[in-house]
Amino acid sequence: MSKEVVLSGIRPTGFLHLGNYFGAMRNFVRMQSEFDCYFFVANWHSLTTHPDTQTLRQSVHRVIAENIACGLDPEQVALYVQSDVPEIAELYLYLNMLAYKGELEKTVTFKEKVRLQPDNVNAGLLTYPVLQAADILIHRAVKVPVGKDQEQNLEMARNFAERFNHRYGDVFPLPYGFNYGGELVKILGLDGEGKMSKSENQLSTLYLADDDETIRKKIARAKTDQGPATENSVKPPYIENLFTLLKLVSTPDTVSKFEEDYNMSQQGDCRIRYGDMKKQLAEDMIRFIAPIREKAADLQSNPELLSTIIKKGAEKARASAATTLTQVRKAIGTGN
Ligand code: ADP
Ligand code: TRP
Repeated sequence: MSKEVVLSGIRPTGFLHLGNYFGAMRNFVRMQSEFDCYFFVANWHSLTTHPDTQTLRQSVHRVIAENIACGLDPEQVALYVQSDVPEIAELYLYLNMLAYKGELEKTVTFKEKVRLQPDNVNAGLLTYPVLQAADILIHRAVKVPVGKDQEQNLEMARNFAERFNHRYGDVFPLPYGFNYGGELVKILGLDGEGKMSKSENQLSTLYLADDDETIRKKIARAKTDQGPATENSVKPPYIENLFTLLKLVSTPDTVSKFEEDYNMSQQGDCRIRYGDMKKQLAEDMIRFIAPIREKAADLQSNPELLSTIIKKGAEKARASAATTLTQVRKAIGTGN
């Protein structure tokens, strides 16, 4: 039996961070041996916000390098750049005929962008979910590992697929969000405000490209307080977030030591020393991030190797895309 098709994309809109790793890329890495995987850099999508040309090119290369450094094996998966697969643009055109202005205007992300960039409400922004549907359907993917914020876009992709199948005959299986165990992690910023992010909250976000000193400084500045007032207190979100990070990168012994200290603390007898906890977290974080950063830097300093990898990814993606497109054209009546 052939393996189920998995697909996901990341926009090259900034530096990848711990939230991207634990919320998305860790899942990609787990899925690569079990499924037929397609992972790509969504550079067409990022044009909706008119990025600087030179920065865009660099970001695309960095995202590819960081994905490999995190454990994606370009031999095993198709790792490619969206703009290298013109078949996606053709499917996007067909799907646009099945997408209605009213439903597109109602999506949460569109409304948010209208608020954020009122002077640049371009048609690409409006049809962002149509392009995303084309990304997914071009490989007839059924599992899409993404965060909760993408649920509405996936629902629209299913709607377009259903409309297509209804009008032209069954071509597309319906895609659904996927995540191991169902629990989605969300990593907050170190200031306890908002989430770690590629483009906002930068001083409170740990990036996979941060050097050791930057990691130490950011963690040392993380928000804490004078300690819990009573034993076994519920942790405030910024303290809970430090424990979440500790659980992700430190040993179980370290985690239980600080958990115990926290639970035994009360006003006048504070056992937990946040200073020590942050120092330990910083060192364990460095042990986690440094090898990824170094591997990504090595790859980025070898543009020829990167470009070979990107070309190979595009070939795999185009082969699968062409098969789907032949069926699509035949169904619609645009093929020979
Ligand atoms: P960003 O908000 O940093 O620009 P994206 O929206 O491009 O990131 O998200 C890429 C992937 O990373 C998505 O699957 C998203 O759910 C996940 N992700 C982003 N930020 C976090 C976070 N702070 N915690 C957990 N997952 C996250
Ligand atoms: N919209 C996604 C994001 O902002 C990126 C994306 C584009 C994507 N095309 C996709 C994700 C297809 C999954 C599948 O994170």
